[in-house]
Amino acid sequence: MLDGAVEKSNYPLSYHITPLKGLLNDPNGLIQFKGKYHVFYQWNPYGTVHENKTWGHVVSTDLVKWERRDIALAPSEDYDRDGIYSGSAVVHDEKLYLFYTGNVVEEDGTKNSYQCVAVSIDGETFEKKGPIFQHPAGYTRHVRDPKVWYDESDQQWYLIVGAQTVQEEGTALVYCSPDLAEWTLQGELLRAPEIEKLQQRGYMWECPDLIYLDGHWIFLYSPQGIEEVDNRYQNIFQSVYVTLKKEEDSFILENEEMKEIDWGFEFYAPQSFLSDDGRRIMYAWMGVMEPEMEQSMPTIAEGWAHALTIPRSLSFKDGILKQQPVVELEALRKDRSVFSLEQDWKQQLSSGGTELIFQFDELAEPFALQFLQTTSLHYEDHTLSLTRQRWLDQKMESRSIYLPDGLRHLRIYVDGSSLEIFVNDGAAVATARFFEAGDSFVTYKGKNKGLASCYELCGNDSFIR
Ligand code: FRU
Repeated sequence: MLDGAVEKSNYPLSYHITPLKGLLNDPNGLIQFKGKYHVFYQWNPYGTVHENKTWGHVVSTDLVKWERRDIALAPSEDYDRDGIYSGSAVVHDEKLYLFYTGNVVEEDGTKNSYQCVAVSIDGETFEKKGPIFQHPAGYTRHVRDPKVWYDESDQQWYLIVGAQTVQEEGTALVYCSPDLAEWTLQGELLRAPEIEKLQQRGYMWECPDLIYLDGHWIFLYSPQGIEEVDNRYQNIFQSVYVTLKKEEDSFILENEEMKEIDWGFEFYAPQSFLSDDGRRIMYAWMGVMEPEMEQSMPTIAEGWAHALTIPRSLSFKDGILKQQPVVELEALRKDRSVFSLEQDWKQQLSSGGTELIFQFDELAEPFALQFLQTTSLHYEDHTLSLTRQRWLDQKMESRSIYLPDGLRHLRIYVDGSSLEIFVNDGAAVATARFFEAGDSFVTYKGKNKGLASCYELCGNDSFIR
């Protein structure tokens, strides 16, 4: 399968899931099925624009080494002829069920969407079974991205789907089913007046994911049309979470603050799944950009675009959703170099990726960490800032987060043109792409008590291509 534009890239990613060529966006259908992890993703195999969406497919036994599979789902029927949009997977009776949105553009240009299912016995080939319910009345055709799960406590299946009311406000609809075949609409996830308590509503909610984690119901979603507030919601579209309480047959808000899942630049459309050993693991698209930024990415000229984040294990404590790289990624570690944080140092970044761990003995004092020439992480006065140069117009731009309890720990995954920064054991995370040519190194400047470990990673062996 060596026809990949990604193979010859000047901005390669090694252990991240990328498309072989063309454009990748959301993670889809995350599941462990018959011992193997399956990751599907939105994929236009024919070009680097948002058209011709199929489900790309990779398989792994350990979340580290991946094998590419043929396209799992491609447009073929009246109900999905213009795109296999995002969705999810469940296992039932030893079969793998993929739920997705069929996208249809009518001759007059209006769009239609159908929530569909496809079934597989072997996890390799999928049989389409068609739409599973009628389009709900009172909502525009912006209904998409079904996420399905089984609820042990009331012994039935649930499906949540992103939607837009006819008043063009974002929402999510919940359906239930005894058997994955007959679906009944229960209503909106948050009914009036609950939904009005949200700080902002936006015009569409994409990729909803409702999870029960460490004793709390957490709703993760990607609302469009959210206004910037202080240093939050600064990207074109956001991915946020709120915590909920379950009432008789609906949910109310436990905490209406829409917390950003990631405070960096490129992070969108996260999806989580439960692994066989009970972990809640999340991937996201790295990530949505303003259209001009996307089309000026240096990889576009090479014929490919985007990647998924690394898999992150989720937990919930003290009102905060925490993300940690899954433990399996430690298998990527090769050589380790250790540096004192009391003096400046410089370290080469490896082509198979680099993992940096900063353990501060006391709360961190100001320091700067620079990646190549223009990308940097800076800490001062409880504020951590990530700055990079926009590849579209060379302007500098920053994202920052205020850390009320200071900075104790940092874990950073650098992979060619991606950065994933886990702050204070994953209590805050920033994700970004950056495109810089030249010598690849990281420089530390500061006077702190503590140590940094730099692991050279062997990500180059991650894909059996
Ligand atoms: C989110 C999204 C989804 C849709 C898919 C299409 O990035 O817009 O709502 O299903 O991408 O590729």
